[in-house]
Amino acid sequence: MASKEKLIIFDTTLRDGEQSPGASMTRDEKVRIAKSLERMKVDIIEAGFPMASIGDFESVQAVATAVEDSTVCGLARALDKDIDRAGEALKPAKSARIHTFIATSPIHMKSKLRMTEDQVVEQAIAAVKRAKGFTDNVEFSPEDAGRSEFDFLCRVIEAVIKAGARTINIPDTVGYNIPHQFGSLVGRLIENIPNSDKAIFSVHCHNDLGLAVANSLSAVLHGARQVECTINGLGERAGNASLEEVVMAVQTRQDVFDCETGLDTTQIVPTSRMVSTITGFPVQPNKAIVGANAFAHESGIHQDGVLKARETYEIMRAEDVGWAANKIVLGKHSGRNAFRTRLDELGVIFDSEEDLNKAFANFKDLADRKHEIFDEDLHALVSETAYENNEYCKLVALTAHSESGKTPHAEITLSVDGKEKTSSSSGGGPVDATFCAIEDIVASKAQLQLYSVNNITTGTDSQGEVTVRLQKAGRIVNGHGSDTDIVMASAKAYLHALNKLVVPEERKHPQHYV
Ligand code: KIV
Ligand code: ZN
Repeated sequence: MASKEKLIIFDTTLRDGEQSPGASMTRDEKVRIAKSLERMKVDIIEAGFPMASIGDFESVQAVATAVEDSTVCGLARALDKDIDRAGEALKPAKSARIHTFIATSPIHMKSKLRMTEDQVVEQAIAAVKRAKGFTDNVEFSPEDAGRSEFDFLCRVIEAVIKAGARTINIPDTVGYNIPHQFGSLVGRLIENIPNSDKAIFSVHCHNDLGLAVANSLSAVLHGARQVECTINGLGERAGNASLEEVVMAVQTRQDVFDCETGLDTTQIVPTSRMVSTITGFPVQPNKAIVGANAFAHESGIHQDGVLKARETYEIMRAEDVGWAANKIVLGKHSGRNAFRTRLDELGVIFDSEEDLNKAFANFKDLADRKHEIFDEDLHALVSETAYENNEYCKLVALTAHSESGKTPHAEITLSVDGKEKTSSSSGGGPVDATFCAIEDIVASKAQLQLYSVNNITTGTDSQGEVTVRLQKAGRIVNGHGSDTDIVMASAKAYLHALNKLVVPEERKHPQHYV
C-alpha cells in the first residue's frame, strides 16, 4: 500500500499563542514548551517575533539553541529590519525557517499599510529574497488572505514562489471564513497558480466564529499540507486552530484524510497541561481531547457500554493522547539528584547552581505539604522560583482569617524595593481582604479584570493555581501563583501581576505595521 502524504504540523503557541492578552511567557518558559513540542515531534516551532523586543529576540535565540529535531521559525514583517533580526536570532538553529508576511486584503492595504497592490507585491518579493539570504526555508503569508481578492492573491503568491518562498501560508486572520468556502479557496489557489507545485500550501485559521479547526481541516481536504495551530487553541482574540483537535481528527479519520502527521500524540496532554500552567489559561473541562471530561462518561448507559466494548462510545483511546502520563514523579523523599534529573527531562535549564538550589528548597517545602508531586507541580514551581528572583515587590508574610459570622481579615507584610511594609484589611472574603491589604501598601490603582482558581492536579491537597489579570493605563498583565493554600496562591498571583506592571514593557505587535 502506498504511504500517505505528510501533513506538516507548524505550532505557533510561542508566537500567535503568546498574542493572547496576558499570555506572555519568559524565555525559559518558552524553552520548556519548545522542548515538549519537540518531544511531540512537531515539525516546525514558531518561537516568536524577534523584532518585537529584546526579550522576544532572546527567546527565539534560546529556543533555536535548545531544539534539535524540529525546525525553529521566527516571524518577520516584510521589512528588512525584521528579517535581519529574525535571521540573527535563528543563527544557532540546526534547521531554521523565516516566516515573512504582508497584508493583501483591500481593507488592510488601504487602511493599515496605505500601499497600492503593486507596492505590496514588490515588498513581498523583496522580503522573500532578503530572507533567502539567511535560509532556504522561507515561508510567506499574505495576511488576511481570507478576505483578499482572488486574482490579487494569485498574483502575489506566484511572485513570491518565483522569489524563492517554499511554503505559502493562507491565513484567515480574522476568523471570517466558512469551511466549504475556505477549503475551496485553498484548492483554487493550488489549481490556478502556475508554479504552485514548487511550494507547500499551509493554513493558519483564527477562531472568531469557532471554525478554526473546521476551516483548517477543510483546507487539508483541498490540498493544504501544513496546518498552523496552537496547543489548547491559544492565540490572538478567540485563538487559533487547536493542535490537538487537528491532529486527532486527521489520525482518527484516516478513512477521510489522504495524509498523516508524524506526531507522538501521547505527548498531547502533558504539553497541554504545561502550556496551561505556564500561561495561566485554564482548559475548559469539556474541551475536546485535553479537557478533564473529554474521556469521562457520566451516564450509566454510556458507562455500561464502554465497559462492554469501549468503541460503543469512545472514538479515541485516552492513553493515545497521553492521559495515562499523569504519574507521580517525585515525593518528600526524593533527593536533589532525582529532582534535577526530572527537570532535565522536562527541558528545564537553570542559569546557575544557585537557581537550582532555590528551586530545590521550594520543592522540599512543597513536598512537606503535598505527598505526590506531579510534572504540573514542577512546572508551576520552576516558573515561580524564576519570578522570585526579580521581584520588586515580594511577599514576606501573610495571615488570613475567616470564621463563620465574622468579617474576613488579612494581614500582609511585603518587601517593596527592599523595604518591609505591613498592612491589614478586611474584605468580602480572605482573598478580597488580602488584595485590599496589598493595595493599601502598593497603591497601584490597577483594575482587577480577572480572578480564577484551578487545581493543578487532583485531590484536596492539590496546589491551587490562581490567575489574576490587572489592567492599568491600557496595559493588561496576567499574574500566576500556586500553592496548596489558595489565599497564599492568590497573593502570589496578585504580586506577580503587580511586578509585571512595574517593569515598563516596550514590545511591538507583529500585525501593527510601523
Ligand atoms: O493571523 C495571521 O494572519 C497571522 C500572520 C502573521 C500569519 O498570525
Ligand atoms: Zn494569526
